[in-house]
Amino acid sequence: MYNEYENAKSKLEKFNQANLLNLLNRLDDRTELVNQVNSINFEHIMDLYKKVKEPNYIDVNKIEHINYVDKSKLLDKNLEEYTKIGEEIIKNGQYAVVTMAGGQGTRLGHIGPKGTFKINVNKEEKYLFQIIVESLQKANNKYNVIIPWYIMTSSENKNQTVEFLEENNYFDYPKEKVKFFVQGNLPLVDTKGELIIDKNCLIKEASDGNGSIYQSMKKDGIIEDMKKNNIKWIFVGGVDNILLKIVDPVLTGLTIKENNKISSKSVVKTNPKEKVGVFCKIAGKPKVIEYTELPEDMACKKDVNGELVFGEVNILSHLYSIEALEELSNKKLPYHVAFKKANYLDNNNNFIQVDKPNAYKFEAFIFDAFEEYEDMSILRVKREEEFAPIKNAEGPDSPETACKLYNNFIKLQNK
Ligand code: UD1
Repeated sequence: MYNEYENAKSKLEKFNQANLLNLLNRLDDRTELVNQVNSINFEHIMDLYKKVKEPNYIDVNKIEHINYVDKSKLLDKNLEEYTKIGEEIIKNGQYAVVTMAGGQGTRLGHIGPKGTFKINVNKEEKYLFQIIVESLQKANNKYNVIIPWYIMTSSENKNQTVEFLEENNYFDYPKEKVKFFVQGNLPLVDTKGELIIDKNCLIKEASDGNGSIYQSMKKDGIIEDMKKNNIKWIFVGGVDNILLKIVDPVLTGLTIKENNKISSKSVVKTNPKEKVGVFCKIAGKPKVIEYTELPEDMACKKDVNGELVFGEVNILSHLYSIEALEELSNKKLPYHVAFKKANYLDNNNNFIQVDKPNAYKFEAFIFDAFEEYEDMSILRVKREEEFAPIKNAEGPDSPETACKLYNNFIKLQNK
């Protein structure tokens, strides 16, 4: 223990962590903090911190429109061909689904994993996880398979997620087909470059963004598991879009036919100010730009047909070949910075509740990996059929708007 303590102390001195050194002196039992300090890569964090003031420079001249295939305009023969190719993959048990459920759902104000949020759809109360299981079961019945379901959690919500699904008997999904993996964490850093201390006298860490998925899948043996089970195509989606079509032969067939290793679906952006990411090409490679990073004039730019040039919304509906997932699991993605509120323990042991942002949070975005490829397939689908996200407690993208979209879709299907 002595060496470990000395090691932690010199690390904190080297990286000017006065608050943590102070805490180390105050604590009677230092074991947990010492272990945590020794496990954190301070060089990496300080590197990220040094870059927070650098503008997130996107070379506007290198951004171009991306080509897409509009599903509603496909010829019947193409639609049939893609469907057939995709269905073959699914029926052969070569298709898996991954749900990213590591986000905090702060904007929604729900306590607990977002998948445990309950909504009233079609006159029935359902959990978000339950809606995903229902889609899987529907596909299983149709194709006579059991699609493996992988769930990414954060270290913070892993236990709650597993317990919730156990308590609900996985909504009757075959439990042996469900596997969990845990995404990475990174410490939060204050404006002076010191790590934030939580009320439990440990360094406050938070999920490091959904781009963590590739490395986390490798770390937890998920890619190996998929290969062992002969999975060839993997759908990755978010937890909060209740119209998400997680088993899609058309997308799979299109990707294979276009000879791509990755693909994704888009819907048309409703207006230049909609708070979503859009697909584009940057320096010739596919990419998504978040609304926060897209310059306003580009967000408003229209083509000769009056459509937004950057109007293909990312609905978090991605498909990968197993080779692509494996390749990406060995890559490092950039981190984006968010300035957030983080309550902290001060040097007098007071837990300070902050009312404005005081800490940097570093997040990798799943779509930054797309740039590793020359191209990807984009399938434009209808918003009313595939996009009903729940992000906010009220207003746009809230349970109310999502339920309305969901109920309308069910009505249309039953017609
Ligand atoms: C996301 C997309 C955005 C898109 C929008 C559509 C990203 C980075 N942004 O934005 O381009 O237009 O959805 O609704 O994908 N998650 C984790 N771990 C994390 C963070 C998030 O698993 O550390 C999961 C969440 O549980 C959720 C998904 O990733 O399922 C999206 O995360 P969220 O942070 O809500 O992204 P948005 O801002 O909604």
